[in-house]
This record gives sequence, structure tokens and C-alpha cells, in this order.
Amino acid sequence: MNLKAPDYVEGHGLITGRSVLITAAAGAGIGFAAATRAAEEGARAIVLSDIHEGRLEKAVEQLKSDTGLEAVHGKLANVASEDDVRALIDHAEDVLGGTDILINNAGLGTSKLLVEMEDDEWHKVIDVTLNGTMRMTRYMMRVMQARGKGGVIVNNASVLGWRAQKEQAHYAAAKAGVMALTRCAALEAAEFDVRINAVAPSIVLHPMLRKSASEELLAELESKEAYGRAAEAWEVANVMLFLASDYSSYMTGEVVSVSSQRS
Ligand SMILES: NC(=O)c1ccc[n+]([C@@H]2O[C@H](COP(=O)([O-])OP(=O)(O)OC[C@H]3O[C@@H](n4cnc5c(N)ncnc54)[C@H](O)[C@@H]3O)[C@@H](O)[C@H]2O)c1
Repeated sequence: MNLKAPDYVEGHGLITGRSVLITAAAGAGIGFAAATRAAEEGARAIVLSDIHEGRLEKAVEQLKSDTGLEAVHGKLANVASEDDVRALIDHAEDVLGGTDILINNAGLGTSKLLVEMEDDEWHKVIDVTLNGTMRMTRYMMRVMQARGKGGVIVNNASVLGWRAQKEQAHYAAAKAGVMALTRCAALEAAEFDVRINAVAPSIVLHPMLRKSASEELLAELESKEAYGRAAEAWEVANVMLFLASDYSSYMTGEVVSVSSQRS
């Protein structure tokens, strides 16, 4: 069975007037889809960030022309660097006049059996995926607490934080860590009115992912889904924007699965 994706859902003004910062937003996947959805849901200004300069410049122009939003800014940053993280959030505070919503999208994976994995590969995946999310969350919490106007953080985990898959011990451990970080940080942030939740997508296919995994594996992962297909990046972005909006006002520390697999 392979059920087709529904038609693209139009925006409903879920975050009208809010400002948004998104990491890893210049790729072909969830980050840019979340930026597009944020603009369509009424964001007044958006900072796109990524580690790749050329793609970032194009993404800024693309978002402006796709959505008509003029207040789109780009800022290079590697979430594995504390200096970059601070410079990014400080920059966003300046150009946005305060960040209302942070979407921590950056995450990195490779495929390797654990018995063959060297420490370097383990550490790199953990450092971008878990530590990067921690660095962004920690500094944003400090800034939002000091500003005193609340805010929202949405992290990008993965169903692999719950499930097992061969060659994914490092990535799965990092995503389980993102889930735990989300719960604990949310508990601490509640007292200064900052909500922190995460999505856990199953699979979103895009050209960059197709290059890094075999067609066989991707087809097997799709076949495990009740819908027999991967999610569209915008279907994950929709859930992120729900979590970023006031519609999820009684949710914090939650991890929401964006998946049709039941196992
Ligand atoms: N694609 C999937 O099937 C899937 C499934 C579950 C979870 N996720 C998670 O969703 C997030 C987005 O993944 P995606 O596959 O949709 O791709 P994406 O297009 O949203 O993100 C890729 C971008 O990340 C940037 N990036 C890489 N390392 C970075 C770093 N250190 N600092 C800043 N930016 C960096 C890349 O330059 C690229 O532009 C990741 O956290 C990923 O783990 C993806």
C-alpha cells in the first residue's frame, strides 16, 4: 500500500506577529519546510541559520520569493560551536527585536555498525545532534529568561530515540538524549513561561538523505509505515508549528511522534 500525501495545507495564522529562529534551515528537508510554514502561519520575521554558506544565501532568497515575507535574515552557525551558538542567538535577538520561537532542527547522522565505529564518529554525531541542541536550548533559555516575555522552543528528535535500528546506535542515543533534554529543560523553563517540546519524525525523504542511504533501506523504512510512504517535510513542519503556537499552550516537555508506524 502506498497512500498519497494529502494536498498542501494552507496557513491559518497560527503564529501571527511572532519572530522565529531556525537552525539547519538551508537543506532540502524539515528545516526549510518549517521556515516556509512559519512564514505562511504569519511570522513577522525569521532568521534562517545553517552551517553551509552557499545554501544559506539561496535559502534566504527562496523563502522571500516563495512566501513574500521580506524580513528574512540569514546567519551562518555551526551548532557544535558554543561561540557560533551565542553569536547566532545574539544576532537573532538584534534583528528580530527578541526571539519568540526557536526551532532546533540541526542533527547529523551516519550509518555504522557499533563494532566498527571509532570514537570520533560517535562524538561527532552526539556533538551536533545532542550537544548542539543543548547549547542552543541553554543559551536561548538564558536569553528568554532575562527578557521576561516567555517563548517557545521546538526540538527535532527522531523515532529512533525510542526504536532500534542497525548502524544507528550513535544517532539513536543522541535523539534519546534530545528527548530527555526536552523534558528536563521544559520543567526548568516553565517558571519563566518558556515551553519546550519536540517532534519525533519517522522518515522524510529528500535528495540529501537519498544520497546518504541505500534505496533498499529507504524502501524498507517506507514499507513499515501504515501509509506505506515517507512523510513530506511539510507534514513534520505542520506539527512543529502547532507546538510553536498557542494551540499547544498546555504542552511542555512533550515529544510528539510524527509517524504512521505502530510498533
Ligand atoms: N529526514 C528524516 O527522515 C528525519 C527523520 C527523523 C528526524 N530527522 C531530523 O530532522 C532534522 C532535519 O533533518 P532533515 O533530514 O530534514 O534535513 P534538513 O534539510 O532539515 O537539515 C539539513 C541541514 O542541516 C545543516 N547542518 C548540518 N550540520 C549542521 C551543524 N553542525 N550546524 C548547523 N547546521 C547544520 C546542513 O548544512 C543542511 O543544510 C535533523 O535533526 C534530523 O536528525 C530527520
